[in-house]
Amino acid sequence: MKVVLAYSGGLDTSAILALLREQGHEVITVTVSVGQEEELEGIEEKAYKLGAAKHYTINAVEEFAEKYVSMAIKANGLYEDKYPLGTALARPLIAEKVAEIAKKEGADAVAHGCTSKGNDQVRFDTVLKYYLGDDIKIIAPVRELGLTRAQAAEILRRNGFQPPGRHKTYSIDENLWSRSIEGGPLDDPLTEPPEDAFAWTVAPEKAPDQPLYLEIGFEKGIPVSVNGEKMDLVKIVSMLNRLVGAHGYGRVDHIENRVVGLKSREVYEAPAALTLIEAHKDLEKTVYTPKELRFKRILDQEWSDLVYQGLWIEPLRATIEKAIDELNRWVTGVVKVKVYKGSLRVVGRWSPYSSYSRETIDYNHGWYPSDEEARGFITIWSLHSLAAAKARGLRG
Ligand code: ARG
Ligand code: SIN
Repeated sequence: MKVVLAYSGGLDTSAILALLREQGHEVITVTVSVGQEEELEGIEEKAYKLGAAKHYTINAVEEFAEKYVSMAIKANGLYEDKYPLGTALARPLIAEKVAEIAKKEGADAVAHGCTSKGNDQVRFDTVLKYYLGDDIKIIAPVRELGLTRAQAAEILRRNGFQPPGRHKTYSIDENLWSRSIEGGPLDDPLTEPPEDAFAWTVAPEKAPDQPLYLEIGFEKGIPVSVNGEKMDLVKIVSMLNRLVGAHGYGRVDHIENRVVGLKSREVYEAPAALTLIEAHKDLEKTVYTPKELRFKRILDQEWSDLVYQGLWIEPLRATIEKAIDELNRWVTGVVKVKVYKGSLRVVGRWSPYSSYSRETIDYNHGWYPSDEEARGFITIWSLHSLAAAKARGLRG
């Protein structure tokens, strides 16, 4: 068979490549670059060494930023209030690119390295089915054979390859938006994540004594500048990952509900994502009416659930995104943040669409609302509650 393999160069997909070759298949490897810089080094060479007939490296970083990350910012995308969805967002894009190559190459099957325990299998399979229908088979050797990491390492060894050392302890998935770290000592949810799990952030106690101030400019919900300097989104995100990570901010450690009915302990690094979402949320508060703000939180949560749960293909996503875009028309302005030893605070904000009025809120300007207006308002505002309390014998 002609098989197109989604190839990350890590332990599992390298073992799958060797395994498919052992089984006599012709394997075409596809690596989609979504900002996982260090993982890409020497990947093509490695694929050919392991027996790939052809290799594609597709640079999709810009597309990832423009279509996926920008929507994640506009939607304040956080799964269960914590995880900025890096892996969840990149999977549909990777699957789409793999499907394109499978069609172009006239492949009989596509393969990926996901297990049966995770969310990634759902994200890959749904999008592959969407683009390829049922004609092209999906092969998932780790899921089909219940392949352990030790067995994967053994397959590589018997093919004359040294298993990648860096991935021994953890299963890592990295892209522009976040770094996901799983497995090894992290599987004990009571154990503090060891320092060697982290690569993008310093330990907060080792962060500089001077705070980092940043001024982030937004246009229609999308970050467009840092400290007054205009930059594209890829540059802003990479820069913030570096700057903010160096101040120890951006670590997440939580228990997550996976789609397949399992709880897992997940650790992430996402300095830029958490900074931009925090700043974006603050600007939304500055410009939205209370109704818009409350409704937006519902949209955000629905969107984040769809993305996390592998339903990128769900038509409702596009509908929600239309509403999110519409509301983000007003999210323009500047947010000032202060990062200090692992913490981040928004310390200032401005927008041309802000309905905040310093003059009206100032206690030294006593003319609005008048005493009469305030009393009338409070009387009517409390009528329902007071009447109900009385009917229930709760008040005199
Ligand atoms: N739990 C996260 C998610 O579902 C991270 C998955 C990380 N994947 C990996 N192969 N290590 O998006
Ligand atoms: C996997 O199980 O394939 C990786 C983890 C995940 O998908 O959540």
